[in-house]
Amino acid sequence: MSNRYAIVLAAGQGTRMKSKLYKVLHPVCGKPMVQHVVDQLINLDIKDIVTIIGHGADLVKSQLGKDSAYALQEEQLGTAHAALQAKDILADKDGVTIVVCGDTPLIRAETMEALFNHHEETKAKATILTAVASDPTGYGRIVRNESGLVEKIVEHKDATEAERTIAEINTGTYCFDNETLFAAIQNVSNNNSQGEYYLPDVIEILKNSNEVISAYQSEEFEETLGVNDRVALAEAERIMRKRITTAQMRNGVTLIDPANTYIDADVTIGQDTIIYPGTIISGLTTIGTDCQIGPNSEINNCEIGNNTVIRQSLAYDSSIGSEVNIGPFAHIRPQSEIGDEVKIGNFVEVKKAAFGRGSKASHLSYIGDAEVGSNVNIGCGSITVNYDGHNKHLTKIEDNVFIGCNSNLVAPVTVGKGAYVAAGSTITKDVPEEALSIARARQINKDQYVGKLKFKK
Ligand code: UD1
Ligand code: CA
Repeated sequence: MSNRYAIVLAAGQGTRMKSKLYKVLHPVCGKPMVQHVVDQLINLDIKDIVTIIGHGADLVKSQLGKDSAYALQEEQLGTAHAALQAKDILADKDGVTIVVCGDTPLIRAETMEALFNHHEETKAKATILTAVASDPTGYGRIVRNESGLVEKIVEHKDATEAERTIAEINTGTYCFDNETLFAAIQNVSNNNSQGEYYLPDVIEILKNSNEVISAYQSEEFEETLGVNDRVALAEAERIMRKRITTAQMRNGVTLIDPANTYIDADVTIGQDTIIYPGTIISGLTTIGTDCQIGPNSEINNCEIGNNTVIRQSLAYDSSIGSEVNIGPFAHIRPQSEIGDEVKIGNFVEVKKAAFGRGSKASHLSYIGDAEVGSNVNIGCGSITVNYDGHNKHLTKIEDNVFIGCNSNLVAPVTVGKGAYVAAGSTITKDVPEEALSIARARQINKDQYVGKLKFKK
């Protein structure tokens, strides 16, 4: 096997997206398109991956980080000009270079591997990954001669009526003999309808110098979809979503309605977990085994243990243990740590709060900026008063505490171990261990008083 290199074209603005966000950074199933491409390349045995950056260069760089080397294309003069920018890093290398567009997020490592292999077997100088499109509009077309050999690629905008009827398209992925690529690319002109230097023109240039050109047709068009606008973006999302849900099911996850379940590319879910419809699981979420999530729930960047149930609820940037019961209609906000066997029930909002093992806030509470020990019971309607209008303060509730219903814990405040707060209390001072604290007006009953009220008839 020869040395392998890769160039990812990602410098374009993506005008057709009509967006502030640079095209290759648009996410598909939660991950920017260009990251999908690079993640697939990383699975191959490639020595150098060079991403061509231009529009949004810094953002693309911070997205990909150390996954790639970079070459800057200062002006976007076309795909050939873009590839040429990798010259300083790659030009003198001996081997095969794959060129991929940063806007083809569905391309799989297996297909690129097959392309490399085909290229090497046919001893070609260039091999194009082609596909047959039911609607080839917008794509470059593969023009073949009578014997079926590739002559050239013609861009949609430059194609004749007859050429536009060709259904075989250029997917924008190619393998080149590396030195041949950089030699030929110098001869590409911008004499075409868009005034751009087209990388596909390298094919005709090599053909004219009698080099072997090969084509490898991918089995399904879907995988090579190029995303130029929001319509194609939604199409890519649909295809990727199906790919992800299928893989999750094959791994032993039950999806009640896969078409109505939205799981990001980097989510991990354990066996025998059941996901109900309308559930969105995003970011770097990990879910253990035997959980039940949904329906209609959102989980983003959470780490969840085993046997946990989350119903009709939201959870963000938090860790949630095993045997936890959340919802219905609970909201776990960022930086929360929900321990094992905890219950966060109906209409409870938790923010930046830690709950120890077995603690419960079962109904209608707000617990924010709090450290809750283990086996604590927080009664219905109780809240931590964490904000004084300027600063947030901490509420500490130690192990085995009982907070009676409808209590306010005005932070900063600590309720000591085993203490008992009477229902309806507004706690403004620390409560010692094992103490009973009652902080509410005393009840007065005035006998037979109702008859004396003036408004009473
Ligand atoms: C390109 C191909 C077309 C192919 C299609 C497949 C050319 C001229 N055409 O068309 O044959 O069918 O992809 O999806 O190559 N880019 C740069 N710098 C530039 C221009 C583009 O880095 O100066 C990058 C873009 O960011 C993008 C990629 O190259 O990721 C492709 O560019 P795009 O403008 O989307 O090309 P298409 O018109 O789709
Ligand atoms: Ca494109």
